Amino acid sequence: MTQAPASVPAAAPAPASAPTAATPADDAVEMAPLPGRSLTDDPQWFKKAVFYEVWVRAFRDSTGTGVGDLNGLVEKLDYLAWLGVDCIWIPPFFPSPERDGGYDVDFLTGIQVQLGTHQGMKVLLQEAHARGIRVISDFVVNHTSSDHPWFISSREDPEGPHGDYYVWRDDDTAYADARIIFVDSEESNWTFDPVRKQFYWHRFYHHQPDLNYDNPQVLEEILNALRFWLDLGLDGFRLDAVPYLVEEEGTNCENLPGTHAILKRIRQMVDEEYPGRMLLAEANQWPNEAVEYFGDGDECHMAFHFPVMPRMFMALRQGSRASISQILADTPELPENCQWATFLRNHDELTLEMVTEEERDYLWAQYAPVSKMRLNLGIRRRLAPLVDNDIRQIKLLHSMLLSLPGSPVLYYGDEIGMGDNIWLPDRDGVRTPMQWTSEGPGGGFSEANPYLFPKPIPCAPPYGIEHVNVADQQADPDSLLNWLRHTLQVRRAHEVFGLGSFRELESTNEVFAFERAQGSTRVLSFNNLTEWPQLVDVQLEGLVGRTPSVLSGSIGEAPEVIVDQYQLELPPFGYVWLLFSDPPATPVQRS
Ligand code: GLC
Repeated sequence: MTQAPASVPAAAPAPASAPTAATPADDAVEMAPLPGRSLTDDPQWFKKAVFYEVWVRAFRDSTGTGVGDLNGLVEKLDYLAWLGVDCIWIPPFFPSPERDGGYDVDFLTGIQVQLGTHQGMKVLLQEAHARGIRVISDFVVNHTSSDHPWFISSREDPEGPHGDYYVWRDDDTAYADARIIFVDSEESNWTFDPVRKQFYWHRFYHHQPDLNYDNPQVLEEILNALRFWLDLGLDGFRLDAVPYLVEEEGTNCENLPGTHAILKRIRQMVDEEYPGRMLLAEANQWPNEAVEYFGDGDECHMAFHFPVMPRMFMALRQGSRASISQILADTPELPENCQWATFLRNHDELTLEMVTEEERDYLWAQYAPVSKMRLNLGIRRRLAPLVDNDIRQIKLLHSMLLSLPGSPVLYYGDEIGMGDNIWLPDRDGVRTPMQWTSEGPGGGFSEANPYLFPKPIPCAPPYGIEHVNVADQQADPDSLLNWLRHTLQVRRAHEVFGLGSFRELESTNEVFAFERAQGSTRVLSFNNLTEWPQLVDVQLEGLVGRTPSVLSGSIGEAPEVIVDQYQLELPPFGYVWLLFSDPPATPVQRS
């Protein structure tokens, strides 16, 4: 029996003209209903969800080619359901020359042959939905690969149907105030095309020409491609690189009104034709600009909160909450139907665009002492190596991630503390194969000869497969993996983490203390940012005589609130989440 996800409406009629769209495979997929979780029909499901980014090419190879694929991801859905993930985010899986990890797309409605088929994608969606897991994918709205047929046609035939699909000029002087994003590899946002004998505009690699949204036909093409995937059943999109959609002379060509108008049009289409699906903006901007990607609740449902991420790392090294407090105080309220996406790491470098130059130098010195660890304005390392494999700091960072406002986005492999490989080019060092077991040579990632792996599987201590793998950590009740799983269960049991208000508590020292509140439920999150024991010392009104329960943390129990001034001791890099609720909650048991 084919089972439709609860909140997904019947597919919209096929678009009138979808010039490059293939037809979704429409054969029904047989699927046994699974016990356990099912999809909620809450259209605002994303506000309480935990996301997990899967670098599909490195997750699980089901075909013995050495490359991970969609079917491999299906094989691992039970693991993701066990971990407690609500939504998987898959980076671009479209046909691509893969000069930028697939973010260089040459066919917007196709699937890269090595990764699978449309039918395989349908199976993934159905199997994920059957486990109560939604699936969103990247969609690259700003540019295509220079191998895309539109670009080939555009450069060869300026007067032809695609002549105006890209931004062409006779010289390279326009939009001089736009910064270069990939500063380590590109010298200009313009590249000369010897075929058309003009320059084309690109905000990223020179092989990724920007689409020209001044041509309304381009937006129609994009809308049709989005419809194609929504018809197939995707639950939404991470809209890649959205601040750069339109250009305007005399501006930095970021966050322009025309860009917001395009996103509003995309949202309108989703609301009208696919309610319950979700748009997540990748806008690496300061909070006051990032919040504009929510519009008045009529643009993107979610947006990454980029500036808070490096400040969590800064807080750890400075032993000070000042920078996080400041950025949260600077973060405007967001519309009621929206949510931030928060994260520690992802498939890119740990971006340091949203810090001052002084802060960047500090973070580079602290976390990327060797030049090979740096890329563009960032750090190309994974979570565990960034904090010297110190499990206390990994947990503390997750404590902040999982208790601050926003829906957390985890990055594959960080749940077991995988390492990185700084000897690989670009961002490949944080995209190495998932380490499922200690068994060589493929560590459960692939049965192929490892020479076929595009990125080698780590073998050396302390991050090699013998030391870091899912199977061993599943079997060890004290592992990072089991700790994270339990902490996600706690989060799931208390919707205050997703929906509650936020208030920072005055603290006399470097414990980052804040309250999340919803109705009569109050959760206090205390995070010791220093390598010394610290006394939490906060003012708590209205709670005298109450004894909180410890939801998660480095201490077993917490004392009763005797007077308004509440004190308890946290170990170095320790944290604790305390719950005050009416009636008292039943503790979440480890399972
Ligand atoms: C986004 C992606 C990044 C990619 C870039 C260009 O920032 O996260 O991986 O290189 O867009 O598409």
